[in-house]
Amino acid sequence: MISRLLLHASESKKLEHTVSRSRLTRGLVKRYVAGNTLDDALAVTAALKKKNIDVSLDLLGESVTDLIESERATKEYVEAIQAIPRHVPGSTISVKPSQLGMLVDKDACARNLSVLLAAAAENDVLVEVDMEQSAVGPSTLEAYRALLPKYTDTRVAMQAAVRRTQDDLESFTEHKPRIRLVKGAFKETLAVAVQDKDEVTYRYLKMSEWALANLPDPAFGTHDDRCINHVKATAERLGVDRRNFEFQMLYGVRRKLWTELVQEGYRVRIYLPYGTAWYPYLMRRMAERPANLLLFMRSLVGG
Ligand code: FDA
Repeated sequence: MISRLLLHASESKKLEHTVSRSRLTRGLVKRYVAGNTLDDALAVTAALKKKNIDVSLDLLGESVTDLIESERATKEYVEAIQAIPRHVPGSTISVKPSQLGMLVDKDACARNLSVLLAAAAENDVLVEVDMEQSAVGPSTLEAYRALLPKYTDTRVAMQAAVRRTQDDLESFTEHKPRIRLVKGAFKETLAVAVQDKDEVTYRYLKMSEWALANLPDPAFGTHDDRCINHVKATAERLGVDRRNFEFQMLYGVRRKLWTELVQEGYRVRIYLPYGTAWYPYLMRRMAERPANLLLFMRSLVGG
Protein backbone atom coordinates (compact mmCIF):
# COMPACT_ATOMS: atom_id res chain seq x y z
CA MET A 1 0.00 0.00 0.00
CA ILE A 2 2.75 2.46 1.07
CA SER A 3 4.85 1.39 -1.90
CA ARG A 4 2.01 2.09 -4.31
CA LEU A 5 1.44 5.52 -2.74
CA LEU A 6 5.12 6.35 -3.20
CA LEU A 7 5.07 5.11 -6.79
CA HIS A 8 2.03 7.31 -7.37
CA ALA A 9 3.94 10.23 -5.80
CA SER A 10 6.86 9.57 -8.17
CA GLU A 11 4.59 10.77 -11.02
CA SER A 12 3.37 13.95 -9.26
CA LYS A 13 4.84 17.19 -10.62
CA LYS A 14 3.51 19.17 -7.62
CA LEU A 15 5.26 16.93 -5.09
CA GLU A 16 8.37 16.95 -7.25
CA HIS A 17 8.48 20.74 -6.91
CA THR A 18 8.15 20.59 -3.10
CA VAL A 19 10.55 17.69 -2.55
CA SER A 20 13.21 18.99 -4.94
CA ARG A 21 13.39 22.26 -3.00
CA SER A 22 13.58 20.67 0.44
CA ARG A 23 16.97 20.86 2.11
CA LEU A 24 16.21 17.82 4.23
CA THR A 25 15.96 15.53 1.20
CA ARG A 26 19.63 16.16 0.41
CA GLY A 27 20.91 13.39 2.68
CA LEU A 28 18.62 10.91 0.99
CA VAL A 29 19.65 12.08 -2.47
CA LYS A 30 23.33 11.80 -1.55
CA ARG A 31 22.87 8.19 -0.56
CA TYR A 32 21.46 7.17 -3.95
CA VAL A 33 23.00 9.67 -6.42
CA ALA A 34 26.70 10.27 -7.25
CA GLY A 35 26.31 14.05 -7.64
CA ASN A 36 25.10 16.65 -10.10
CA THR A 37 27.77 16.30 -12.79
CA LEU A 38 29.54 13.75 -14.95
CA ASP A 39 32.77 14.56 -13.10
CA ASP A 40 31.09 13.63 -9.79
CA ALA A 41 30.02 10.31 -11.30
CA LEU A 42 33.48 9.61 -12.77
CA ALA A 43 35.10 10.25 -9.37
CA VAL A 44 32.77 7.75 -7.64
CA THR A 45 33.29 5.27 -10.49
CA ALA A 46 37.09 5.52 -10.21
CA ALA A 47 36.89 4.86 -6.45
CA LEU A 48 34.70 1.79 -7.03
CA LYS A 49 36.98 0.50 -9.78
CA LYS A 50 39.83 0.44 -7.27
CA LYS A 51 37.75 -2.13 -5.39
CA ASN A 52 37.21 -4.15 -8.60
CA ILE A 53 33.61 -3.00 -8.81
CA ASP A 54 32.32 -1.90 -12.21
CA VAL A 55 29.75 0.79 -12.87
CA SER A 56 26.93 1.60 -15.23
CA LEU A 57 26.46 5.37 -15.51
CA ASP A 58 22.90 6.65 -15.53
CA LEU A 59 22.21 10.27 -16.45
CA LEU A 60 19.09 11.10 -14.44
CA GLY A 61 16.02 12.30 -16.34
CA GLU A 62 13.03 10.51 -17.85
CA SER A 63 9.66 10.92 -19.54
CA VAL A 64 10.79 13.99 -21.44
CA THR A 65 8.03 15.94 -23.13
CA ASP A 66 9.94 17.74 -25.84
CA LEU A 67 12.56 16.61 -28.27
CA ILE A 68 15.04 19.35 -27.42
CA GLU A 69 15.37 17.80 -23.97
CA SER A 70 15.91 14.35 -25.48
CA GLU A 71 18.61 15.70 -27.80
CA ARG A 72 20.31 17.38 -24.84
CA ALA A 73 20.28 14.07 -22.95
CA THR A 74 21.72 12.27 -26.00
CA LYS A 75 24.52 14.82 -26.18
CA GLU A 76 25.30 14.46 -22.49
CA TYR A 77 25.37 10.69 -22.86
CA VAL A 78 27.82 10.97 -25.76
CA GLU A 79 30.07 13.04 -23.48
CA ALA A 80 29.90 10.29 -20.86
CA ILE A 81 30.67 7.65 -23.50
CA GLN A 82 33.72 9.59 -24.66
CA ALA A 83 34.97 10.04 -21.09
CA ILE A 84 34.71 6.34 -20.17
CA PRO A 85 37.73 4.93 -22.09
CA ARG A 86 39.93 7.76 -20.80
CA HIS A 87 38.91 7.68 -17.15
CA VAL A 88 36.99 4.50 -16.24
CA PRO A 89 37.32 1.82 -18.95
CA GLY A 90 34.93 -1.10 -18.57
CA SER A 91 32.06 1.10 -17.41
CA THR A 92 28.77 0.95 -19.31
CA ILE A 93 25.99 3.49 -19.70
CA SER A 94 22.35 2.86 -18.84
CA VAL A 95 19.74 4.75 -20.85
CA LYS A 96 16.01 5.24 -20.45
CA PRO A 97 14.12 5.37 -23.77
CA SER A 98 11.63 7.89 -22.32
CA GLN A 99 14.60 10.21 -21.73
CA LEU A 100 15.51 9.85 -25.40
CA GLY A 101 12.01 10.90 -26.46
CA MET A 102 10.06 7.61 -26.66
CA LEU A 103 6.86 9.23 -25.32
CA VAL A 104 7.05 12.10 -27.80
CA ASP A 105 8.21 10.52 -31.04
CA LYS A 106 9.32 6.89 -31.38
CA ASP A 107 11.36 7.54 -34.53
CA ALA A 108 13.25 10.41 -32.89
CA CYS A 109 13.93 8.15 -29.92
CA ALA A 110 15.26 5.40 -32.22
CA ARG A 111 17.51 7.98 -33.90
CA ASN A 112 18.86 9.18 -30.53
CA LEU A 113 19.47 5.59 -29.47
CA SER A 114 21.34 4.92 -32.74
CA VAL A 115 23.53 7.98 -32.13
CA LEU A 116 24.39 6.65 -28.66
CA LEU A 117 25.07 3.14 -29.88
CA ALA A 118 27.30 4.37 -32.71
CA ALA A 119 29.30 6.57 -30.30
CA ALA A 120 29.49 3.70 -27.83
CA ALA A 121 30.75 1.26 -30.49
CA GLU A 122 33.38 3.77 -31.55
CA ASN A 123 34.60 4.14 -27.97
CA ASP A 124 34.29 0.47 -27.04
CA VAL A 125 31.62 1.18 -24.43
CA LEU A 126 28.60 -1.07 -23.84
CA VAL A 127 25.07 0.28 -23.56
CA GLU A 128 22.33 -0.99 -21.26
CA VAL A 129 18.71 -0.10 -22.01
CA ASP A 130 16.56 0.33 -18.91
CA MET A 131 13.01 -0.99 -18.95
CA GLU A 132 10.48 1.60 -17.80
CA GLN A 133 6.72 1.63 -17.23
CA SER A 134 4.50 -0.48 -19.50
CA ALA A 135 3.54 2.61 -21.57
CA VAL A 136 7.03 2.44 -23.08
CA GLY A 137 7.96 -1.22 -22.45
CA PRO A 138 6.76 -2.77 -25.73
CA SER A 139 8.22 0.07 -27.84
CA THR A 140 11.49 -0.23 -25.93
CA LEU A 141 11.68 -3.90 -26.76
CA GLU A 142 10.83 -3.19 -30.39
CA ALA A 143 13.63 -0.60 -30.63
CA TYR A 144 16.04 -2.97 -28.91
CA ARG A 145 15.11 -5.82 -31.26
CA ALA A 146 15.75 -3.62 -34.30
CA LEU A 147 19.21 -2.59 -33.06
CA LEU A 148 20.35 -5.95 -31.71
CA PRO A 149 21.68 -7.49 -34.99
CA LYS A 150 24.07 -4.54 -35.38
CA TYR A 151 24.91 -3.96 -31.70
CA THR A 152 24.83 -7.50 -30.36
CA ASP A 153 26.39 -6.72 -26.97
CA THR A 154 23.71 -4.23 -25.94
CA ARG A 155 21.93 -5.20 -22.74
CA VAL A 156 18.24 -4.72 -22.01
CA ALA A 157 16.51 -4.82 -18.63
CA MET A 158 13.65 -7.29 -18.27
CA GLN A 159 11.12 -7.13 -15.42
CA ALA A 160 10.17 -10.38 -13.69
CA ALA A 161 6.92 -8.88 -12.37
CA VAL A 162 5.62 -8.15 -15.87
CA ARG A 163 3.45 -10.99 -17.15
CA ARG A 164 4.69 -10.96 -20.76
CA THR A 165 8.40 -11.06 -19.88
CA GLN A 166 9.03 -14.80 -20.25
CA ASP A 167 7.29 -14.81 -23.66
CA ASP A 168 9.32 -11.78 -24.67
CA LEU A 169 12.53 -13.51 -23.63
CA GLU A 170 11.69 -16.61 -25.64
CA SER A 171 10.73 -14.54 -28.69
CA PHE A 172 14.39 -13.78 -29.41
CA THR A 173 15.47 -16.60 -31.67
CA GLU A 174 18.23 -15.49 -34.01
CA HIS A 175 20.14 -13.04 -31.78
CA LYS A 176 20.01 -13.86 -28.08
CA PRO A 177 19.76 -10.79 -25.88
CA ARG A 178 22.07 -9.87 -23.05
CA ILE A 179 19.66 -9.03 -20.29
CA ARG A 180 19.60 -7.42 -16.84
CA LEU A 181 16.91 -9.28 -14.93
CA VAL A 182 15.15 -7.06 -12.37
CA LYS A 183 11.96 -7.44 -10.35
CA GLY A 184 10.32 -4.26 -11.77
CA ALA A 185 10.10 -0.86 -10.10
CA PHE A 186 7.03 0.74 -11.69
CA LYS A 187 3.39 1.04 -10.69
CA GLU A 188 1.47 -1.30 -13.00
CA THR A 189 -2.05 -2.71 -13.16
CA LEU A 190 -2.79 -6.29 -12.18
CA ALA A 191 -3.39 -7.09 -15.83
CA VAL A 192 0.16 -6.03 -16.75
CA ALA A 193 2.22 -7.18 -13.75
CA VAL A 194 2.08 -9.50 -10.77
CA GLN A 195 1.73 -7.46 -7.55
CA ASP A 196 2.35 -10.00 -4.79
CA LYS A 197 5.99 -9.67 -3.63
CA ASP A 198 6.51 -13.41 -3.08
CA GLU A 199 5.08 -14.19 -6.49
CA VAL A 200 7.41 -11.63 -8.07
CA THR A 201 10.38 -13.23 -6.30
CA TYR A 202 9.27 -16.70 -7.42
CA ARG A 203 9.10 -15.51 -11.01
CA TYR A 204 12.55 -13.92 -10.62
CA LEU A 205 14.01 -17.23 -9.43
CA LYS A 206 12.50 -19.13 -12.38
CA MET A 207 13.60 -16.52 -14.95
CA SER A 208 17.11 -16.38 -13.51
CA GLU A 209 17.40 -20.16 -14.05
CA TRP A 210 16.18 -19.75 -17.61
CA ALA A 211 18.56 -16.87 -18.29
CA LEU A 212 21.58 -18.75 -16.96
CA ALA A 213 20.73 -21.77 -19.10
CA ASN A 214 19.83 -19.92 -22.29
CA LEU A 215 21.31 -16.45 -22.57
CA PRO A 216 24.79 -15.00 -23.01
CA ASP A 217 26.34 -13.18 -20.03
CA PRO A 218 23.15 -12.44 -18.06
CA ALA A 219 23.15 -9.75 -15.38
CA PHE A 220 21.06 -10.03 -12.22
CA GLY A 221 19.92 -6.66 -10.89
CA THR A 222 18.83 -7.41 -7.35
CA HIS A 223 19.72 -6.93 -3.68
CA ASP A 224 17.55 -9.80 -2.52
CA ASP A 225 19.54 -12.58 -0.80
CA ARG A 226 17.05 -15.20 -1.95
CA CYS A 227 17.60 -14.22 -5.59
CA ILE A 228 21.36 -13.81 -5.26
CA ASN A 229 21.80 -17.19 -3.53
CA HIS A 230 19.58 -18.86 -6.10
CA VAL A 231 21.63 -17.41 -8.96
CA LYS A 232 24.85 -18.61 -7.32
CA ALA A 233 23.46 -22.12 -6.73
CA THR A 234 21.96 -22.40 -10.21
CA ALA A 235 25.19 -21.26 -11.89
CA GLU A 236 27.07 -23.86 -9.86
CA ARG A 237 24.58 -26.59 -10.80
CA LEU A 238 24.68 -25.68 -14.52
CA GLY A 239 28.46 -25.29 -14.55
CA VAL A 240 28.33 -21.59 -15.51
CA ASP A 241 31.58 -19.88 -14.54
CA ARG A 242 31.35 -17.00 -12.01
CA ARG A 243 32.87 -14.65 -14.60
CA ASN A 244 30.18 -15.45 -17.18
CA PHE A 245 27.38 -13.50 -15.52
CA GLU A 246 27.22 -10.48 -13.24
CA PHE A 247 25.38 -9.11 -10.25
CA GLN A 248 24.20 -5.53 -10.52
CA MET A 249 23.10 -3.32 -7.64
CA LEU A 250 21.99 0.24 -7.13
CA TYR A 251 24.37 2.82 -5.73
CA GLY A 252 23.51 3.31 -2.06
CA VAL A 253 22.04 -0.14 -1.49
CA ARG A 254 23.80 -3.01 0.38
CA ARG A 255 27.37 -1.71 -0.08
CA LYS A 256 28.96 -4.41 2.09
CA LEU A 257 27.53 -7.10 -0.14
CA TRP A 258 29.26 -5.61 -3.22
CA THR A 259 32.72 -6.30 -1.82
CA GLU A 260 31.72 -9.69 -0.42
CA LEU A 261 30.62 -10.83 -3.88
CA VAL A 262 33.81 -9.49 -5.48
CA GLN A 263 35.88 -11.38 -2.89
CA GLU A 264 33.98 -14.55 -3.79
CA GLY A 265 35.05 -14.06 -7.42
CA TYR A 266 31.78 -12.73 -8.87
CA ARG A 267 31.51 -9.75 -11.19
CA VAL A 268 29.67 -6.80 -9.65
CA ARG A 269 28.41 -3.68 -11.40
CA ILE A 270 26.84 -0.71 -9.65
CA TYR A 271 24.13 1.35 -11.32
CA LEU A 272 25.28 4.90 -10.65
CA PRO A 273 22.91 7.81 -11.26
CA TYR A 274 24.11 11.38 -11.60
CA GLY A 275 22.46 14.68 -12.52
CA THR A 276 19.86 16.96 -11.04
CA ALA A 277 16.62 15.27 -12.16
CA TRP A 278 16.62 12.80 -9.30
CA TYR A 279 13.02 13.08 -8.03
CA PRO A 280 11.24 10.12 -9.75
CA TYR A 281 14.32 7.93 -9.31
CA LEU A 282 14.50 8.69 -5.59
CA MET A 283 10.78 8.06 -5.12
CA ARG A 284 11.07 4.60 -6.67
CA ARG A 285 13.96 3.85 -4.27
CA MET A 286 11.72 4.99 -1.39
CA ALA A 287 8.94 2.71 -2.62
CA GLU A 288 11.31 -0.26 -2.53
CA ARG A 289 12.11 0.37 1.11
CA PRO A 290 9.18 1.79 3.05
CA ALA A 291 11.46 2.08 6.12
CA ASN A 292 12.68 5.23 4.35
CA LEU A 293 9.19 6.68 4.40
CA LEU A 294 9.67 8.45 7.74
CA LEU A 295 12.78 10.25 6.44
CA PHE A 296 10.92 11.24 3.35
CA MET A 297 7.86 12.58 5.24
CA ARG A 298 10.17 14.66 7.45
CA SER A 299 11.76 16.15 4.35
CA LEU A 300 8.31 17.22 3.15
CA VAL A 301 7.21 18.74 6.45
CA GLY A 302 10.56 20.38 7.08
CA GLY A 303 10.88 21.65 3.49
P1 FDA B 1 13.68 -6.29 -2.77
O1 FDA B 1 12.91 -5.05 -3.12
O2 FDA B 1 12.95 -7.43 -2.17
O3 FDA B 1 14.89 -5.86 -1.84
C1 FDA B 1 15.73 -6.79 -1.20
C2 FDA B 1 16.50 -6.08 -0.09
O4 FDA B 1 17.38 -5.11 -0.68
C3 FDA B 1 15.61 -5.26 0.84
O5 FDA B 1 15.14 -6.05 1.89
C4 FDA B 1 16.55 -4.18 1.30
O6 FDA B 1 17.42 -4.68 2.29
C5 FDA B 1 17.38 -3.91 0.08
N1 FDA B 1 16.82 -2.84 -0.74
C6 FDA B 1 16.13 -2.96 -1.90
N2 FDA B 1 15.83 -1.75 -2.41
C7 FDA B 1 16.33 -0.84 -1.55
C8 FDA B 1 16.36 0.58 -1.53
N3 FDA B 1 15.81 1.29 -2.49
N4 FDA B 1 16.98 1.19 -0.49
C9 FDA B 1 17.57 0.47 0.49
N5 FDA B 1 17.58 -0.88 0.52
C10 FDA B 1 16.97 -1.53 -0.48
N6 FDA B 1 13.62 -1.69 -12.40
C11 FDA B 1 12.95 -1.49 -13.55
O7 FDA B 1 11.73 -1.58 -13.57
N7 FDA B 1 13.64 -1.24 -14.71
C12 FDA B 1 15.00 -1.17 -14.75
O8 FDA B 1 15.58 -0.95 -15.81
C13 FDA B 1 15.70 -1.37 -13.52
N8 FDA B 1 17.06 -1.33 -13.49
C14 FDA B 1 17.74 -1.72 -12.33
C15 FDA B 1 19.11 -1.83 -12.34
C16 FDA B 1 19.76 -2.35 -11.24
C17 FDA B 1 21.24 -2.50 -11.27
C18 FDA B 1 19.01 -2.74 -10.09
C19 FDA B 1 19.67 -3.33 -8.89
C20 FDA B 1 17.66 -2.56 -10.06
C21 FDA B 1 17.00 -2.03 -11.16
N9 FDA B 1 15.62 -1.87 -11.15
C22 FDA B 1 14.97 -1.64 -12.35
C23 FDA B 1 14.87 -1.89 -9.86
C24 FDA B 1 14.28 -3.26 -9.58
O9 FDA B 1 13.22 -3.51 -10.46
C25 FDA B 1 13.78 -3.35 -8.13
O10 FDA B 1 12.76 -2.39 -7.93
C26 FDA B 1 14.85 -3.14 -7.07
O11 FDA B 1 16.05 -3.76 -7.43
C27 FDA B 1 14.39 -3.76 -5.72
O12 FDA B 1 14.22 -5.13 -5.86
P2 FDA B 1 15.23 -6.23 -5.23
O13 FDA B 1 15.40 -7.31 -6.23
O14 FDA B 1 16.45 -5.58 -4.75
O15 FDA B 1 14.39 -6.90 -4.05
